[in-house]
Amino acid sequence: MISQKLNDTLTLTGPGTEAGSVMRHYWQPAALSDELQGTRPVVPVTLLGERLVLFRDSDGKLGLIDRACPHRGADLCYGRLEDNGLRCPFHGWHFNRDGQCVEQPGEPQGSTMHERITTTSYPVVEKNGIIFAYMGPGEPPAFPNFDCFRAPETHVFAFKGLWECNWLQAMEVGIDPAHASFLHRFLEDEDPQDSYGKQFRDKAADTNMPMTQLLREYPRPEISVEETDYGMRIIALRHLENGKTHVRITNQIFPEAISIPMSREMIITQWHVPVDDENCYWYSMFTSFDKPVDKKLMREQRLKEHRLPDYAPIKNRSNYYGFDPQEQQQTTYTGMGLDINVHDQWAVESPGRIADRTKEHLGSTDVAIIRYRRMLRAAIKNLNDSNSSELPMMNGSDHIFGPVSNDTIANNSHWQQASTDSDKERRANCRDWDASIPADDIEAAAAIKNQ
Ligand code: FES
Ligand SMILES: [Fe+2]
Repeated sequence: MISQKLNDTLTLTGPGTEAGSVMRHYWQPAALSDELQGTRPVVPVTLLGERLVLFRDSDGKLGLIDRACPHRGADLCYGRLEDNGLRCPFHGWHFNRDGQCVEQPGEPQGSTMHERITTTSYPVVEKNGIIFAYMGPGEPPAFPNFDCFRAPETHVFAFKGLWECNWLQAMEVGIDPAHASFLHRFLEDEDPQDSYGKQFRDKAADTNMPMTQLLREYPRPEISVEETDYGMRIIALRHLENGKTHVRITNQIFPEAISIPMSREMIITQWHVPVDDENCYWYSMFTSFDKPVDKKLMREQRLKEHRLPDYAPIKNRSNYYGFDPQEQQQTTYTGMGLDINVHDQWAVESPGRIADRTKEHLGSTDVAIIRYRRMLRAAIKNLNDSNSSELPMMNGSDHIFGPVSNDTIANNSHWQQASTDSDKERRANCRDWDASIPADDIEAAAAIKNQ
């Protein structure tokens, strides 16, 4: 358990907060490209407690500016998208994508007042279905060579969902390898043929054992953590019969993302982005090393579970997450259906909007959570000491690839090599895009130490 003061330090991300300052040194997912597909590409974006509006102007370029008009505060989400910018409907002040006021049609002829009116604007970049914003000081950092950014647009599908809780408890579920054996337990296995686009439904590595069976029958993983240039690598070993081990490698990407295997074909890179202190969005990029992603199918699967325009889950606190006690006895551990996103949503929302960590009791399976909080505290200290270059990935990220995220079955004594080999094989077989990792980096990635 931690003090209330530390809980506040780690969780609050609005302007002027310590964790918020760390987050503002990194690109943050702000919207899906899908959200700007309609005839009027203007969407509200609340990010790190700041109320903004995102729009595409007639040059096709994106602008992310303050939602409150700097005249008298009217909501620019209702603005008129015209003349290559956004015009406030209250008195017609007109803003370009850089937040500069370019016209005040009610002011006297020849007035130059507009030249002195600017509003907050943040740089935005569109990457494989997600629009990222940089809300921090100075020049934005370069994007690392992560697979989700290197793969072509055809091989990456992006989606998001709203969770009504603080971002940190959402992220902490993603770095907790033990929960999958319980929260996502299926009491019966489905045919892995029906697994496309779903997590934990494939067969485990090179076996005929469904992942669901493996997770169910081996619930005590041996978990270790290694700090890396981008965050942490988390290794979960499940020792099976006959001298075999199941190895699952997942990653924490600082400050608030994870990278995990989804199936043999795909990995998921997922950000847990603060909307404000009591709500967050998960943004996922599903990256395929094999054939192009079936975006239509993956979108349809997820739109059945979410309501537009805010991507709020249809099963939620107000309808008890669809809880069915009979299902809980017969089919699933939670009784909340087969969509594992709903299980995670219940797990992150039910502790309350901001989990009370003064009452928690962390066990040995929570090792990555403990290490992560230490990393975030170190980053806060570095910013307080004006050492922003000491933050993860702030000293250049050209050498950062992957990160390796996979499931492997290996002989007990060779699990490290087997995991590296299986990643190399997947990358070598990736024909449609260059998934190779320079030799030096793959050796570094292989240097997994048990700690
Ligand atoms: S409030 Fe926007 S132009 Fe007056
Ligand atoms: Fe989960």
